[in-house]
Amino acid sequence: MVVSILLRTLATALLFASSLADDPKINVTKLDCGMRKLALQYATKISPDPSQLIHVFEALRLKDLCGSSFDDASERSIQRHRQLFIENEFQGTYCRDACVFVSPSMDQKVFQDGSMQHPWTSIHDALSHVRSLRVESPALVLREGEHSLSAKTVELGNQDSGLKIIGFPGESVWISGGVGIDAAFEDLSDGVFVADLKSTLDSFDKMPSIVSLFTTSRRYTRARYPNSDPEVDQWGYASRHRLDYSISAEHVVEWHRPERTTPPKVTLVDLSKNPPPGVPIKNNSAQEGYNWYTSGHGGSCSEVWGPDANSYWCSESCQGGWAEVDAESAAAGSQQIPNGLTYNTTSILKRFQNVSIAGGIIHAWHSQSWAMHMFRIINQTSKGELKFEKGGGRQGGRNWCRCDQCTYAAHWCGQHQKPPWNDTRMISGTFMIENLLSELDSPGEYFFDNQERLLYVKPNATVDLTDFRLGMLEAFIDIRNTHDILIENIGFRDMVPTYMEEWSPPSGGDWSLHRGGAVFIQNVSSIGIHNCTFRRLDGNAIFLSRRTRNVTIGGNRFEWLGENAIATWGDTDTFDATAENFPMYTAIERNIFRELGIFQKQSSAVGHCKAAFTTIRENIMFNTPRAAINFNDMVGGGEIVESNLIFNSCRESGDHGPVSNNSSRRSVDNDDGSSWHHIHNNVWYASQGFKMDYGGHDSVYEDNLVLSYPYDAQDCFDFANFIQGHGHIARRNRCLVGLGHKMDSGCGDPSCAVPFPETKDTNELIGTFYSSCGDKTLQLESNKYYTPDGKATIRFEDALFSLQEVQEKCGLEKGSTSQKLPDEETMIEWASQVLGMSSIGSIQAEE
Ligand SMILES: *[C@@H]1O[C@H](CO)[C@@H](O)[C@H](O)[C@H]1NC(C)=O
Ligand SMILES: *[C@@H]1O[C@H](CO)[C@@H](O)[C@H](O)[C@H]1NC(C)=O
Ligand SMILES: *[C@@H]1O[C@H](CO)[C@@H](O)[C@H](O)[C@H]1NC(C)=O
Ligand SMILES: *[C@@H]1O[C@H](CO)[C@@H](O)[C@H](O)[C@H]1NC(C)=O
Ligand SMILES: *[C@@H]1O[C@H](CO)[C@@H](O)[C@H](O)[C@H]1NC(C)=O
Ligand SMILES: *[C@@H]1O[C@H](CO)[C@@H](O)[C@H](O)[C@H]1NC(C)=O
Ligand SMILES: *[C@@H]1O[C@H](CO)[C@@H](O)[C@H](O)[C@H]1NC(C)=O
Ligand SMILES: *[C@@H]1O[C@H](CO)[C@@H](O)[C@H](O)[C@H]1NC(C)=O
Ligand SMILES: *[C@@H]1O[C@H](CO)[C@@H](O)[C@H](O)[C@H]1NC(C)=O
Ligand SMILES: *[C@@H]1O[C@H](CO)[C@@H](O)[C@H](O)[C@H]1NC(C)=O
Ligand SMILES: *[C@@H]1O[C@H](CO)[C@@H](O)[C@H](O)[C@H]1NC(C)=O
Ligand SMILES: *[C@@H]1O[C@H](CO)[C@@H](O)[C@H](O)[C@H]1NC(C)=O
Repeated sequence: MVVSILLRTLATALLFASSLADDPKINVTKLDCGMRKLALQYATKISPDPSQLIHVFEALRLKDLCGSSFDDASERSIQRHRQLFIENEFQGTYCRDACVFVSPSMDQKVFQDGSMQHPWTSIHDALSHVRSLRVESPALVLREGEHSLSAKTVELGNQDSGLKIIGFPGESVWISGGVGIDAAFEDLSDGVFVADLKSTLDSFDKMPSIVSLFTTSRRYTRARYPNSDPEVDQWGYASRHRLDYSISAEHVVEWHRPERTTPPKVTLVDLSKNPPPGVPIKNNSAQEGYNWYTSGHGGSCSEVWGPDANSYWCSESCQGGWAEVDAESAAAGSQQIPNGLTYNTTSILKRFQNVSIAGGIIHAWHSQSWAMHMFRIINQTSKGELKFEKGGGRQGGRNWCRCDQCTYAAHWCGQHQKPPWNDTRMISGTFMIENLLSELDSPGEYFFDNQERLLYVKPNATVDLTDFRLGMLEAFIDIRNTHDILIENIGFRDMVPTYMEEWSPPSGGDWSLHRGGAVFIQNVSSIGIHNCTFRRLDGNAIFLSRRTRNVTIGGNRFEWLGENAIATWGDTDTFDATAENFPMYTAIERNIFRELGIFQKQSSAVGHCKAAFTTIRENIMFNTPRAAINFNDMVGGGEIVESNLIFNSCRESGDHGPVSNNSSRRSVDNDDGSSWHHIHNNVWYASQGFKMDYGGHDSVYEDNLVLSYPYDAQDCFDFANFIQGHGHIARRNRCLVGLGHKMDSGCGDPSCAVPFPETKDTNELIGTFYSSCGDKTLQLESNKYYTPDGKATIRFEDALFSLQEVQEKCGLEKGSTSQKLPDEETMIEWASQVLGMSSIGSIQAEE
C-alpha cells in the first residue's frame, strides 16, 4: 500500500554527523561531510541555475555541520554559468515567424501594437494579437516584471499550436495569479489593519472560496491556532515541535462518524481469470489481490469524495496495509472520515467555546500521518460540538482508523485504560484551525471576510501594506486539445489554495488528488516547460491530465508549493486499452524541487498517478513532507528514475509503504503491486536498499550504490515472494551496511538521531527474502556486499544463511561477494563515480 517508490538519498539522515563520531571503524563525520560536499558538487553539475545552489548548500547544512563555506565550494562553477548566461542573449531566434511583446511596466494608456517598442501591457491582449497573425510558430515575449492575469486563465487550444510563450532572456519575468490591492488600509488596534476590497474585486464575478495573500517575497498565513509559519514549521508525527504548531488529538472527545448510508457500488474484475475482452491477463503478482481491478463508487463513497469518484479504497476488495479498515467502511456504508467533532471544553480548545468559528478550516493528520484532511466548520454548539461542511476530509484517499482497529496509534483509546473498554472512536493525528478572524494575532497573518470583502492583516512590516497581491487564480495557463507549445523562462506566483476544492482518489495508492494546477495540460502532445520558476503557489504547479504525450519539463525550479510540483492523472475508467487516455513519454529533467506540500503534506515532487513511460532524470529533490517521488499505481510501467539527487524527504509523514513507522527507511519502496521499474545507477546514502512487500514484481535494480545506516536490519533488499518468471532482478549493486547508527523514521530533525544497538546480527544481515532457500523466482547476482567483519547473511523465511550457503544451497547470488567495509574516501569516490562525476579532487582541494 501507500507510496510505491521512495527514493531517498543523501541527507535524510545526513543530520547526525557529530553524534556518531564514536564508531571505531568508520569516521562518520568524515563520511557524512564528504557525502554532503559531493551532493553540492552534483547539484552544481546538474542545476541549470547557479543562483539556486545556495539553497542546496543551506539544506545540506554544510556550514554548521562541516564548517565549509558556500563560496569555497561553488564560486568557480557559478562564474562559469554566469558567462554562459551573458552570451546567451536574445538573438531574435524566437522571432522567426513573429514576435509579439508584452511589458507590464508600460503605461496602459500609451499606444500599443505589440512591437518591442510599443508592447502590450496585458498577456490577454497580446494573445489575441498573436492569434490574429495566423503564423505557424509565433512567440509571445514577456518583458521584465510582474504580469497579472487579472484572475483570468490564459486558455490555449487547437488554434495556438506552435506558440511559444517566453520570458525575455536575462530578465525576471513573472506571471501572477493574483490581483493588486488599491484600497487603503485602516489602522485598527493591536497592529491589525483592514481594507475594504469591494471595489477592487468588483469586476470579478466569481470569488474563490479561500484567497491567499502574498508580498513580493513572502506568503502571508491565514490566521490560525496555534500560530506557525507553514513554510518552515514542521508538525509531522515525529517532528520535535509539533505540539507548538498543532493541537494534540487528545483534546478531541470524539470525531463524529457519518450516519450509515448505502454502501458504494463495487466493480471487481479478477484480471488473472476473466479479464474483459481485449484486456491481457494479469496473473503475475504472487499476492493475488494485486491481480484484481477494483473500485467503489456512489453511496457512502460519494458522500465524501463526490459523485464522480471511483475509489480503490471504497471497494471491499482493496488490498494493502490497513485495507481492512477501508473495506469495513465500504461494507458498512459509512466512511471513517468525520463530519464533525466534539472537543473537550475544559482543554485548551475552550478558547473557541464562545467565539464564532464557522468558516474556520481544520487541518488534521490522518491517524497514521499519511495525509492531511481539511474540514470547514459550519456550526458550533456551546457544548463544543462542531459540524463540518459536507465533503470535508476528501484530501486523503484512506479512511481513518478506529481505536479498536489501531489502538497503538492513540494512547488515549479506551483499550489502554483501566479498566479497558471497547473504544470505537476514530483516531486522528494532531490538527490546527485556520481562517479565523479571532486568531489574527501574529505578524504575517491575515483574514479575508469573503462575505463583506474585507481584508484584515497584521503586517510584519507596514511596508507590506503596499506590496500585497491577493491570490485568486487556480489555472494560469490551461493548455488543452493542442500540440507544440513551449513555455520558457517565466516565473509563476500568487495562486489560490485548492485544498477545499474537488478531490478524489486517482488510483491504488493512498492518495487523493485535486485535478488542477497553475499550468494545466490535457489532451496534448509535445509541450515544453523549460527554465521556469514556480514559487509560492498554494496548489499544484504543473498538472498533466488525461491524455498527454511528450511533455518535457526541464530546468525548472519548484519551491514553497502548497501541493505537488508535478502531478499526473490519466483516465482509465474504461477497459478500452486502445484509448490510452493517460500521460505517456513525459520527461522530467534537471529540475530543482524543494519545500513542497506545505498544505497537503501527502504531496511529492512528482505525484505519478495513471501515467506511463515517464523519465525522471538528474533532478534534485529535497525538503519534502512525504515521498519525493510517488508512483501511486502500476498503470503503465516503463518509468525510468535515474541519476536524481534526493534527500530529506518524508520529513513529516508517518509512513512509506510499510505502515510500521519504524521501518519506513527504504530507499526504494516498491509497493502496491508497482512493477516493471528499472532503477539503476543511483546512490542511496543513509537509507536502505530495495523493498517489495505488497505485490510488486518484474523490476530490475542494478548498478546502485547503497550506503546504509542500519535501521531495521533489512539493509540491501527486503522482498516478499514472486511468481516464477516475474521476480525482481537485483544485480551489480554495491551495498554497504553497518556504517553507523540509525534514526527514527519520518523525522528531518537532527535531534532524532538515536544510538544504534550494535548487534552482530544487524551488522551482517544484508537482506530478507520471505521465501524458502530453494525459491528461484528472485534473481540476485554479482552484487558486492560490505560489512564491518566482511561476512554477509541473508534471511529466508525463518532461517539465516551465509552468502556462501546462499550460493551453494539456494542457487542465488552467483558472482556476489562480501568484504570488509572500505575507508571513507573510497566510499565517497564510489558515489562520485556512480553519479557520473569524474573526480572529486576539487572538493578535497577546498577543504
Ligand atoms: C573524523 O573526521 C573529521 C573530519 O574529517 C575530523 O575532524 C576528525 O578528527 C576525525 N575523527 C577521528 C576520530 O579521526
Ligand atoms: C498466467 O497466464 C498465462 C496466459 O494465460 C499462462 O500461460 C500462465 O500459466 C499463467 N500463470 C499463472 C501463474 O497462472
Ligand atoms: C478534558 O480535559 C480535562 C483537562 O485537561 C481533563 O481533566 C478531562 O479528563 C478531559 N475530559 C475528557 C472527556 O477528555
Ligand atoms: C462560554 O460561555 C458559557 C455560557 O455563558 C460559559 O459557561 C463558559 O464558561 C464560557 N467559556 C469560556 C471559555 O469563556
Ligand atoms: C447551528 O446550530 C444551531 C443550534 O444548534 C441551529 O439553530 C442552527 O440552525 C445551526 N445552523 C446551521 C447552519 O446548521
Ligand atoms: C468492539 O466493538 C465493535 C463495534 O461494536 C465490535 O465490532 C468489536 O467486535 C468489539 N471488539 C471487542 C474486542 O469487543
Ligand atoms: C518580519 O520582519 C523581520 C525584519 O524585517 C524579518 O527578519 C522576519 O523574517 C519577518 N518575518 C516574517 C514572518 O515575515
Ligand atoms: C483532443 O485534441 C484534439 C486536437 O488536438 C481534438 O481533435 C480532440 O477532439 C480532443 N479530444 C478530446 C477528448 O477532447
Ligand atoms: C536555461 O537557462 C540557462 C541559464 O540560466 C541557459 O544556459 C539555458 O540555455 C536555458 N535553457 C533554455 C531551454 O532556455
Ligand atoms: C513523441 O516523441 C517520439 C520520439 O521523439 C516520437 O516518435 C513521437 O511521434 C512523439 N509523439 C507525439 C504524439 O508527438
Ligand atoms: C518496529 O515495529 C515492529 C512492529 O511493526 C516492532 O515489533 C518493533 O519492536 C519495532 N522496533 C522498534 C525499534 O521500535
Ligand atoms: C512511531 O514509533 C515511535 C517509536 O518508534 C512511537 O513512539 C510513535 O508513537 C509511533 N508513531 C505512530 C504514529 O505510530
